[in-house]
Amino acid sequence: MTQERRFKVTYSTLASPDPELHERYDQAVADFRADMGHTYPMFINGEERFTDKTFAKNSPTDTSMVMGYFQMGTAEDANDAIAAAKAAFPAWRDTPWQERVDILRRAADLISDRLFKMGAIMSLEVGKNRLEALGDVEETADLIRYNCDAMEANNGFSKPLKNESDKHHNRSVLKPYGVWVVISPFNFPGALAGGPSSAAMVAGNTVVFKPATDTAFTGWLLTEAFRDAGVPAGVFNFVTGGGRSVGQTLVDHPDVAGITFTGSYDVGMNIIRTFAGGKFPRPCVAEMGGKNPTIISNKADLDKAAQGAMRSAFGLQGQKCSALSRIYVHKDVKDEFMKKLVEQTAKINVGDPTDLNNWMGPVINESAYKDYQGFVEDLRQHGDIVFGGKTLDDKGYYVAPTIADNVPEDHALWKQEMFLPIVMVEAFDDFDAAMKKANDVEYGLTAGFFSEDEDEIQWFLDNIEAGVLYVNRGSGATTGAWPGYQSFGGWKGSGSTGKAAGSFYYVQQYMKEQSQTVVD
Ligand code: UN1
Repeated sequence: MTQERRFKVTYSTLASPDPELHERYDQAVADFRADMGHTYPMFINGEERFTDKTFAKNSPTDTSMVMGYFQMGTAEDANDAIAAAKAAFPAWRDTPWQERVDILRRAADLISDRLFKMGAIMSLEVGKNRLEALGDVEETADLIRYNCDAMEANNGFSKPLKNESDKHHNRSVLKPYGVWVVISPFNFPGALAGGPSSAAMVAGNTVVFKPATDTAFTGWLLTEAFRDAGVPAGVFNFVTGGGRSVGQTLVDHPDVAGITFTGSYDVGMNIIRTFAGGKFPRPCVAEMGGKNPTIISNKADLDKAAQGAMRSAFGLQGQKCSALSRIYVHKDVKDEFMKKLVEQTAKINVGDPTDLNNWMGPVINESAYKDYQGFVEDLRQHGDIVFGGKTLDDKGYYVAPTIADNVPEDHALWKQEMFLPIVMVEAFDDFDAAMKKANDVEYGLTAGFFSEDEDEIQWFLDNIEAGVLYVNRGSGATTGAWPGYQSFGGWKGSGSTGKAAGSFYYVQQYMKEQSQTVVD
């Protein structure tokens, strides 16, 4: 096959002027629409698995569109997947790490080759606009490469230690744990499935992967890439079905050695607690949401601040744990900032996300759509909706980007993650009081700051309690982390270990340490 041209899209790409990118994406959407509605299997021990019951995946962009049918897996399927992963573990653990790296790099390249097909399907499956979807696919490949790079840079994590004498040979070796469960969220169905899975596998663990029910399709496409790259049977298993049956079986299973969960705080904390109930301590990597603030100084470039705020509050319809949901703006510049923010927001087109003109697509499902209506009603009663606050075209789950002002400071929505395109604004006149509010939540994932004053910037960096910080970033005030450019971690209720996919120290979490002393 001739090597096709590669395209680089990240979450910070504001717009792509490349006509070929748009043509190829449009073609991939058209190809999919012309031939959709197929049935897709699970993948257990290198084999496709079909069950008696399937569920339809309807696109949030048009709820009458059935994209495909997926398997309603059972506890038995989950148990079989764990048994397959357990059986495959010894051989995969003993495979030289360089070979594991080769296989996973092949998977990354296949994902890059399939960028447009995967991106088109992801747009329709999640409701992402084209750059967000293509960015997610590329990030999936980049996270896989990033994890491979970490193995190489650290010589497979086998390091000589000091020796007590010439006769002693001391080493520290990191070794895999065994069967690793990966449970991924709907919002980054490529990156937050492929990132953790590849880290687990490159380290020598075997994987049972369960995607969010809303995004089984991307899960299947990722499975195909690992399969086609030559990941051996049983090393990567893909199960679909309900959280209560399949998901719970995975979490409860004694043969599971480690787990990575990305999703809500409540589910994450439940998994951590359940998982701690085993016989031994077991690692649980959990990335669980945010309530991310941005502080805007009276010394800020307000155009940059308004653009960064708009992009982070409303990109992917606010459905990112990194999304901006609270803006604290200095009272001297509030009116001017609000004017600019409303102007920027008014320019957003909401609609079919595969259409180049639309920057916002629908929210993920009916439950999110209803939540939006409830939150807006609540904010309207207690404050002012200065923009948006309504549902749109009812062909899919379309809602308007929403800005709320004058909401009392003790209102519950200042602290609750909504995961929707709703941002709340408050004026401040004392910087330290604003910082106190910014930090006064159970989460600490990302945070933004706008100021042209160096001392103020240092004050922000020294005092904010969050894992990923951005200062003066017009392409996104709190969102847009990319492996290698930011080391992604979450503090407080945002993360169980503080390190999320894309962190410098990520892959080490998938290995336990052994120190070896051999005497001549
Ligand atoms: C998440 O929202 O689930 O920075 C975390 C960003 C993404 C964040 C992923 N890479 O926008």
